Amino acid sequence: MKIIAVENYQEMSKAAAQFIINQVKEKPQSVLGLATGGTVLGTYEKVIEDYQQNKTSYKQVHSVNLDEYIGVEATHPNSYHYYMMEHLFAHIDIERDHIHIPNGLAKNTEEECRNYEGVIEELGGVDLQLLGIGVNGHIGFNEPGTSFDSVTHVVKLTESTRDANKRYFNRLEDVPTHAITMGISTIMKSKNILLLVSGKKKAEILAQVMNGEIDEKVPASILNTHPNVTIIADKDALAFV
Ligand code: GLP
Repeated sequence: MKIIAVENYQEMSKAAAQFIINQVKEKPQSVLGLATGGTVLGTYEKVIEDYQQNKTSYKQVHSVNLDEYIGVEATHPNSYHYYMMEHLFAHIDIERDHIHIPNGLAKNTEEECRNYEGVIEELGGVDLQLLGIGVNGHIGFNEPGTSFDSVTHVVKLTESTRDANKRYFNRLEDVPTHAITMGISTIMKSKNILLLVSGKKKAEILAQVMNGEIDEKVPASILNTHPNVTIIADKDALAFV
């Protein structure tokens, strides 16, 4: 894994946005794997800034998101659909029918998972997958113990993840209990992976990922076996490495 150490969140966001912009310039029809959460927000801001200033076009880009809550309407402010529209898609020229996010309201969620996996395959796979990391090492919503062979599937969220995400909801009871997520093997099939890590609360898990064993107890540890992973991490996140 290639590590890019930066000073702070701003620097991480700038470097990550440049990574995405370079990918799209090099291959305008790129398939971008996108993530949600607080870590990637600044990156999307910088991508939008560049779009406004330099007119980098996303017209031919396809996007596939990592995950979505089950049972939350796409129009609800806490859905990942809403997040992506609000924080990125509404501000760039990506075609609406090029945007793919799991449908958390699908009647048959198992079928939705199979279809989603099919969509990624039909697109020819992900060129660049953007990732954040949970404090317990989850990637997407692949919680500790998820098989490294997993494909897109339904997950029951751990209490630690629900607790970490409750800041976006009124009450813990409102945080969904289940989600659809790309599997670990789905993520690992991406040609390039960009993992962003910022802040003291991620320092312990980042050290574990970088120096610990490759173990399903730490989902992100599998990234050590991927040939093209770049980690952009700030000083606080790198404190224990
Ligand atoms: C969420 C998302 C992940 C994200 C992670 C970290 O649960 N499903 O894709 O990477 O948690 O979130 P944050 O960046 O807000 O710390």
